[in-house]
Amino acid sequence: MKLKFLPMLALAVTAVQCAPKTDLINDNVENAKIQLKSLVDASEAGDTVKIPSTFKDGEIVYVPTDDWVSGFFAGSLWYMYELTGDEYWAGHARKHTEILDSIQYLTWHHDIGFMVYDSYGNGLRLKGIDGYKDVIVNAARSLSTRFRPAAGVIQSWDADKGWQGERGWKCPVIIDNMMNLELLFKATEFSGDSTFAKIAVSHADKTMQNHYRPDYSTYHVVDYDPETGEVRGRYTAQGYSDDSAWARGQAWSLYGYTMVYRFTSDKKYLDQAEKVAGFLFNNPNMPEDLVPYWDFDCPDIPDTYRDASSAAIIASALYELSYHTGNALYKEKADKIIESLSSPAYRAAQGTNGGFILMHSVGSIPHGSSIDVPLNYADYYFLEALIRKGNIEKGMAPVTK
Ligand code: GLY
Repeated sequence: MKLKFLPMLALAVTAVQCAPKTDLINDNVENAKIQLKSLVDASEAGDTVKIPSTFKDGEIVYVPTDDWVSGFFAGSLWYMYELTGDEYWAGHARKHTEILDSIQYLTWHHDIGFMVYDSYGNGLRLKGIDGYKDVIVNAARSLSTRFRPAAGVIQSWDADKGWQGERGWKCPVIIDNMMNLELLFKATEFSGDSTFAKIAVSHADKTMQNHYRPDYSTYHVVDYDPETGEVRGRYTAQGYSDDSAWARGQAWSLYGYTMVYRFTSDKKYLDQAEKVAGFLFNNPNMPEDLVPYWDFDCPDIPDTYRDASSAAIIASALYELSYHTGNALYKEKADKIIESLSSPAYRAAQGTNGGFILMHSVGSIPHGSSIDVPLNYADYYFLEALIRKGNIEKGMAPVTK
């Protein structure tokens, strides 16, 4: 029988405090130590510190600091510090964070929230390093330059260059953009300037209004008219089709609204996250092991790619959702995902996979990029999920504001 996630029922179920299942966590930490140490060695071997993003044709692929994934490796090293308490990881995390210094002024895309919060945000949280707060506030200022007041949203991509320039969009907003709001909430806390949090709330509200279908799956791209605020159209960029449910988009949607609830305590965001969870777990195309195919509506299912990155993001979000709702079923689902990702089907054998932890993620099939490979953000959210799982099992909040 399929488990149904009914929001009303969810409130009635109390989370069960279990004895810590530390074996699975410890086993993953021991494995990650070996894998990520080899990535640290490789990325720091030359004259400059490099940013590993994936592993392709037997080579580690490195990205420049302005790539949207540039903060995840630093973030993974901070999480290793959190998981182990070993200063080795903090030292390397700091090195990989501070090479990103210039991106606090980046204004040409929206991903600065991911990039700066995963790196500097975690460094600040764990070590309170001088100057990191300023970087976060500067980054929030940069991100805020992309706010379009008439539409009430942050513009994700510029519409006049690259492949996006060929789509005829004016103000494309992608569901992924929900993830950048964490940086804005923290910037208000650090600076006392409420503008950042107001932008975050406006973006979350408009996205809730315009990005969702009746079944609570989300479109990938909504294009707005920045002058009038009207929706010009709804599309995909990385999914199977405009009307399909691209897996990572659904993962960002679940995580995004759970996180916005953390900062606002406004129940409408928690309800939204629960409805997204309902879509995911009642979907007939969600596999038994809960590692989604890259798009829930890909007609080739089951003969198509899984996306371990989506699974890791969903697991991390579900741990937080279980805490806010008191619904132990969400934790059970998250635990199942972590068990799947920890199995040899997804977790690479030590000394393989270029040093990345997880195999079988998908960057973008329509763009033909990073298909069935490790991705640094799959590892980042996997480690984050392990931390959240451990915290809950110790009777603590999975994540603090
Ligand atoms: N934010 C880009 C992606 O999820 O691929």
